[in-house]
Amino acid sequence: MPGYTLEINGTQTVVEAEADMPLLWVLRDKVGLTGSKFGCGIGQCGACTVHVNGSPIRSCLTPVSSVAGQQVTTIEGMASSDQLHVLQQVWIDQDVAQCGYCQAGQLMSAAALLENNPNPTDSDIDDAMTGNYCRCGTYIRIRKAIHTAAEFYNAAQETQS
Ligand code: FES
Ligand code: FES
Repeated sequence: MPGYTLEINGTQTVVEAEADMPLLWVLRDKVGLTGSKFGCGIGQCGACTVHVNGSPIRSCLTPVSSVAGQQVTTIEGMASSDQLHVLQQVWIDQDVAQCGYCQAGQLMSAAALLENNPNPTDSDIDDAMTGNYCRCGTYIRIRKAIHTAAEFYNAAQETQS
């Protein structure tokens, strides 16, 4: 079985897998990172969203061979060593999650949005999050939390400058 080296959450990781094995399978079954969820398996629900080189992708549709040598970030790598990502903290503070199943994917998409657009409008948020489904209907809380996180994010940036 071929081996592939990926940088997963900052760690060089070698995995043995068939070339067409979806990245989601590799993360969950070979590396033990089970935060990314299997929902539809056909790129429609967003539960499996992770970042590759900072961009959100559907890991259920991404063959591991296509991301060899790339930087993969999962929900487990979102926080820094001792501090939650601002989105994670706001998610907790505002009780965004209901059952929680979709929320790792929601957070990964929201993080990519804030990275590219620190002042998103409602419409920007809806566009960025449109591929992330939530069977519990937490969409309104997600949108509010992203606005709040954006305020913290921008305040932190100003403090640092
Ligand atoms: S499990 Fe990947 S998009 Fe649904
Ligand atoms: S919180 Fe239950 S599916 Fe989104």
